[in-house]
Amino acid sequence: MLLPLVVLILSVVALAVPSRRANHAVHEKRAAEPVGWEKARRLESHKILPVRIGLKQRNLHLLSDLLDSVAHPESPSYGQHWSAAEVADYFAPSDATIQTVKEWLTDTGFAPERVRVSHSKGWIEVNATVAETENLLNTEYHVYAHPSGVEQISCSSYSVPNHVRDHVELIKPTVHFNHRAGSLPSKFSKRKEGRLGLPTSDNGPKTNGVTVKVPPTLENCDQFITPDCLRALYNINYKPVATSKNSYGIGEFHIKFYMSSSLTTLHQSNSRHKPSSLEILIYSSRVVQTTNQSFDFNGESDLDLEYAMTLVNPQKITLLQAGDLPEGASFDNWLDAVDKSFCTFEGGDDPTQDGIYPDPLPGGFDQPESCGIIKAPNVVSVSYGQDESTVTAAYANRQCSEYGKLGLLGTSVLYSSGDFGVAGFGGVCLDASGNPVDNGTKFNPDFPVGCPFVTAVGATQINPGSTVRDPESACEQVIFSGGGFSNIFPIPSYQKDVVTSFLKTHPPPYTAEQFNNSGKVRAFPDLSANGANYVIGIDGEFELVFGTSASSPVVGSMITLINDARLAIGKGPVGFLNPAIYSDIFRLGFHDITTGGNQGCSKHTISSTFIVHSNALVLLDTPGFTS
Ligand SMILES: *[C@@H]1O[C@H](CO)[C@@H](O)[C@H](O)[C@H]1NC(C)=O
Ligand SMILES: *[C@@H]1O[C@H](CO)[C@@H](O)[C@H](O)[C@H]1NC(C)=O
Ligand SMILES: *[C@@H]1O[C@H](CO)[C@@H](O)[C@H](O)[C@H]1NC(C)=O
Ligand SMILES: *[C@@H]1O[C@H](CO)[C@@H](O)[C@H](O)[C@H]1NC(C)=O
Repeated sequence: MLLPLVVLILSVVALAVPSRRANHAVHEKRAAEPVGWEKARRLESHKILPVRIGLKQRNLHLLSDLLDSVAHPESPSYGQHWSAAEVADYFAPSDATIQTVKEWLTDTGFAPERVRVSHSKGWIEVNATVAETENLLNTEYHVYAHPSGVEQISCSSYSVPNHVRDHVELIKPTVHFNHRAGSLPSKFSKRKEGRLGLPTSDNGPKTNGVTVKVPPTLENCDQFITPDCLRALYNINYKPVATSKNSYGIGEFHIKFYMSSSLTTLHQSNSRHKPSSLEILIYSSRVVQTTNQSFDFNGESDLDLEYAMTLVNPQKITLLQAGDLPEGASFDNWLDAVDKSFCTFEGGDDPTQDGIYPDPLPGGFDQPESCGIIKAPNVVSVSYGQDESTVTAAYANRQCSEYGKLGLLGTSVLYSSGDFGVAGFGGVCLDASGNPVDNGTKFNPDFPVGCPFVTAVGATQINPGSTVRDPESACEQVIFSGGGFSNIFPIPSYQKDVVTSFLKTHPPPYTAEQFNNSGKVRAFPDLSANGANYVIGIDGEFELVFGTSASSPVVGSMITLINDARLAIGKGPVGFLNPAIYSDIFRLGFHDITTGGNQGCSKHTISSTFIVHSNALVLLDTPGFTS
């Protein structure tokens, strides 16, 4: 009796929905098509894909509240950070989730012995042919070609059965694209890379090409920023005393490497610019390469390290160097080093997106990726970013949760907010459907600064002719400080009051056509610090550089000094910063930046001056966290 009925229903469904999978729903869809790539051909059906299914973690919806309870200064459990084991256990996927996904795979024809659950339970791994994967996910894989000769595989969307959707965060390799086309980024190709997204497109720094001859002094900090200018500007007058208990990590990626000779150039100019020592923690990278020397290769690392090492001296700095020369690395790769749940051998990394090690390419890092090898430093500053439009919500959320977990562990994660104002890399904005186009007029926010669990750091400047005692403006020299509103992340509770008040009392002259003005999405940056006219030693001479790239390691240094003072009196590190930054108690410790703007999409006369006017967008002044 039942059988004919089932057949009848199926045939009706089949007629109504031409899809091969009536009970499937689209799980991820690429937000924007990658610029500069051509869809060349279907991927051969016999090729093997290392399919990784990221399982739904338990309790993630509580992460925000849990962070508040350890990071809001008025919380009775402020500073009571979790252990790594507690975090891993609390968020591990449930047995029901694992079972549901396994059954889906076996029902689709994968023999149980082909299906492996990772040690952390975060991932299910199966090697599948392209034909099997296309059938499983109701999709088609294509090979995309870049003019540089590099090819990537990708599908533009994929589906999973409805009853499985709630148990899966994301599946790789699927819709993501990485930037690893091209070799040495010239200024032009760097921009192009940025549009494809991914962390190797750094947030600057930019040089204005001026070679500085005379070691500068405090009198002209509006033209030349030095560590002494920053000390005067922000009342940094503290020498670390608890260095053995403290830690500060600087993340560097891909082909950006520091030159040890550059670090001493600054010191030689002034004995007060004495750098601290560096513990080079290289993972997914064979050596700190020194064969290729230029601003593009060394500028970012030299800047970050020169200022951080000088400001926190004698605190040792941990260089988190991810990615070798041939292959590069993603943000997931640095997370791997501190958080096993992402690692390659756990099935977490995606060859189309992340660096996969060992790397068989000539000159590649031939060792397994470093995974869970260090306790996350108390502060990590990363001066790299990518356009949010290049990632899917699922990918962004998964990575963002990892930053939240680091906050629970007591780590402050800082990212620079981008150098193109409200526009994306290269000043590119979006069309109405969210694709990056040259004549776009919709704002193009950055990732991962839109993640509410990182602290987004923007850039300020000392206005021309002003001194370290005058109020700063948003940086408008060479770069525009990145800022705006996320299209993925909802507004976190710590930010609600200031953003609501900002939208009401300083409503920007733009509409929902340009940005999500609902007051319901995450706004950034959280903090800003000087990012203009930094004197750096590079390749034997001094140059001036600009960017939020400079600001983030400086704020990270200040937080490191605060942590030192806390550790010296037996307290723990401050950890996740944002609930404290916006709290009534600490807001007074910062200056509101009320002049200057985040211009972007300017080719079409959108000049935005909104975000830095918010009370949220404050300048770190005196280290008040020790009280
Ligand atoms: C997938 O294939 C790789 C390479 O042959 C192998 O190392 C890995 O163990 C396989 N994984 C599974 C789940 O079979
Ligand atoms: C680094 O320099 C070598 C030698 O000049 C060159 O062959 C190589 O292509 C350079 N690497 C990159 C990524 O540009
Ligand atoms: C942008 O350029 C495209 C292609 O030239 C055109 O179709 C579109 O109307 C332009 N959009 C705007 C907002 O000018
Ligand atoms: C703005 O964000 C809210 C909250 O995420 C969302 O409901 C709304 O659809 C978004 N508006 C636009 C125009 O995207």
